[in-house]
Amino acid sequence: MREVKIKCVLQVFGGIDQLPEDVKDLMQEAIRARKKAYAPYSNFQVGAAILLDNGEVIIGSNQENASYPSGLCAERTAVYYAGAKYPNIKILKMAITAASSKGTTLEPIPPCGACRQAIAEYEVKQNQPIEIYFMGESGKVARSNSLSNLLPLVFDKSVL
Ligand code: THU
Repeated sequence: MREVKIKCVLQVFGGIDQLPEDVKDLMQEAIRARKKAYAPYSNFQVGAAILLDNGEVIIGSNQENASYPSGLCAERTAVYYAGAKYPNIKILKMAITAASSKGTTLEPIPPCGACRQAIAEYEVKQNQPIEIYFMGESGKVARSNSLSNLLPLVFDKSVL
């Protein structure tokens, strides 16, 4: 038997003001998107903004449903729209912000497992890393240089 350790490396910025200018703009788009979330059941609003290789920004927010599992997370709303609108354009960066009506979320909130799997599909497809920045409502921002860094042991087309 041997033990295998897997590393996940994040960079942490003290706040949105410390981000590179283009990422700050992207995070501000994500914040605007978050404010348009439809989350009457969880009262947990999430916004995502994606920067594409053609310079366009695609946004998404979580969309809930009275039949709970029919709702969709912000990240997948955005990534599927990007894929539908521009099937051949690469995704460069993604900014994510989450806020709860129960109190101010100050810690970075990472994308859920299902969203990581969905984003991984596009990272594998484009064969180029997607930078992911995520935060709460305010405070620190975490950066991952790729989706694969957030989802080691990915299940992808190579196993099919
Ligand atoms: N949610 C997202 O939009 N993204 C995530 O990565 C995690 C969760 C949404 C789904 C649901 O509308 C609410 O947050 C609470 O789970």
